[in-house]
Amino acid sequence: MISKETIDKVFEFARVEEVISDFIALKKTGANFKGLSPFTNEKTPSFIVSPSKQIWKDFSSGKGGNVIAFLMEHEQFNYPESIRYLANKYNIEIIETNDKYENSEERNKRESLFIINSFAQEYFQNVVLEEVDVKNYLKERGLSDSTIVNFNIGFSPDKKNSFYTNASEKGFSIDYLIETGLVISNENNYIDRFRGRIMFPIKSISGRVIGFGGRIIDSNKKIAKYINSPESKIYNKSKTLYGIYESKQFIVKNDVCFLVEGYMDVVQLHEHGIKNVLATSGTSLTKDQIILIKRLTSNIIILFDGDQAGLSASMRSIDMILEEGLNVKICQFPDGEDPDSFVKKYKHDKMIEYIDEESKDLIDFIISVNNEFEKDEDKKVDLIKSILKSISLIPDLLKQEVYIKKLSSVLSIEESSLFRSFSNIKVGKKLQKSKSRQYSKNIVKIESPKKEDKSGYIYQLERQIISILLKYGVEEIVFEDIFLNKNEKGDIVESRKEIRSKVYEKIYLDLQQDEIEFTHGPFKEIYNKLINSFHNQNLISIDSFINDLEPNSSKIVSDILINDEKYQLHDWEKKNIYVKKIGSELSQLVNETILNMRRYLIDKKIHELQDNSNNETNKVLEEVMSYYRLKKLLSAKLNRVV
Ligand code: CTP
Ligand code: MN
Repeated sequence: MISKETIDKVFEFARVEEVISDFIALKKTGANFKGLSPFTNEKTPSFIVSPSKQIWKDFSSGKGGNVIAFLMEHEQFNYPESIRYLANKYNIEIIETNDKYENSEERNKRESLFIINSFAQEYFQNVVLEEVDVKNYLKERGLSDSTIVNFNIGFSPDKKNSFYTNASEKGFSIDYLIETGLVISNENNYIDRFRGRIMFPIKSISGRVIGFGGRIIDSNKKIAKYINSPESKIYNKSKTLYGIYESKQFIVKNDVCFLVEGYMDVVQLHEHGIKNVLATSGTSLTKDQIILIKRLTSNIIILFDGDQAGLSASMRSIDMILEEGLNVKICQFPDGEDPDSFVKKYKHDKMIEYIDEESKDLIDFIISVNNEFEKDEDKKVDLIKSILKSISLIPDLLKQEVYIKKLSSVLSIEESSLFRSFSNIKVGKKLQKSKSRQYSKNIVKIESPKKEDKSGYIYQLERQIISILLKYGVEEIVFEDIFLNKNEKGDIVESRKEIRSKVYEKIYLDLQQDEIEFTHGPFKEIYNKLINSFHNQNLISIDSFINDLEPNSSKIVSDILINDEKYQLHDWEKKNIYVKKIGSELSQLVNETILNMRRYLIDKKIHELQDNSNNETNKVLEEVMSYYRLKKLLSAKLNRVV
């Protein structure tokens, strides 16, 4: 781990305006700096940096924060990567403390592998400058010098071990040279792995070289066209996408990622000004890779060549992407063309036009590749089932519905029958254990979001509570609570009571009463710390509160403070940037949030009961029913406050 002293020093020296102006042209306006948002394609600058506060705010995307938040958003660094970047920029020595996960030997080894790869990249790049054959090959493929330099493309000489000789002269250990895969040991002989190949450095999201892909330059040779570095301590193929470093900011800006197969597809698209593109490098897409893309955008368009292999790979990828909650479209190229050859032939505008016109969503795509279904009724049924199955993977219920409605109109099938067979698919998935159909039917309709899903309902509710506490925790207001009691006749009657209390006390007591625990780790940490500070009346300032939190939690807190309220430009300099909510509005917000949370937990409880019951005894049924009653009461209360 990076030591606290190093981190403090970085914060002491780093100037947000200096760091940002390495990426964006900033102009001084009064006390602040202004520039064009790097996150959108705006024409008038609304990106503001305040040197006095050492923060930035992008009014066109709503993002903002301190210098670390900028590097995390713009460079997609994580916290330690951001600190390292700043330490490097300001010549601050990084002191590491021992941590239990990685001993220093391990860390030194990783560092050594990175250093060797970076040396190798430079070595291969220098060769390009010298060899005429190589220059001609790259020229023939249509790559300009600036693209070659941007991707640090090089060449590994067609000699037995010229790289090895150079590297060992520099004093690199042979064990590490072998571990990177650049050198192969063969009966006490050392040979360069990538002899006679064009070298594509594979970079991490922060730009360090983790491995290489090499393409033969002489196509007559009967050897593999491409070879890649073996997996190592720093290179994990299934977690990497080629082009991530060069393309990340363009993916964020365009809010869509083109996914291609090969190195040349990425490089060639960049050559033609299309820079929001990543490659899986010939392997099938993995969940880790999708999560990597998710950091940048939630929209993916798969660009693939028209062959059968590409087709079935795309089908698998689509389901995985949908399951991660991202949007996916598929764009198929004419037979014999890949994105590289297509854009080289037709250039930028035609390429964009083609992608715009040919990209198909899930439904259109599956229908287009199964065109024989029109004549065969059974095929049509299979087709519908397979589309419904893909739709069932989408976590967002609203999106599911939209797709089903579309399917209904495209295939002219009654919406209601589609919804019926769709719920059968979902019931089938959920109730593998349960025996009774009758019993289950009523209950499965309630959907509980996945626990770790950030778009999930409970995540939003927990975040909302943190947000309320941060902004209004110490405000004292009057809450009108509604109690539901039974009278002598057994009817449910409503009574109201006004209670004056601090916002944090109300939240704390209500949650405690229901024994509600936060499900998301960082929220739990923030909640406990906040409540403690409120109780002990030692919440000095939000700044010092944030600095005391784990990096991940502190990022969450700043995000909440910065993003939640859409305050106007002129509020920027005001001391209290949050427009105070008036009492009744605030009490309503607090009540609503807590009630929603309780209602959600009851849904969950019903689910658990029903999932765990192999046989539906009356007791379970009774318990479920009583939860239903409770839910109804809560809904009634909610309608009152909403
Ligand atoms: N690939 C690989 N090993 C191979 C063949 C392919 O790793 N033997 C990977 C490479 O990442 C390559 C991608 O699969 O970029 C796509 O392969 P292919 O379509 O055969 O190559 P192109 O990218 O079209 O290569 P080029 O245009 O250079 O001929
Ligand atoms: Mn190609």
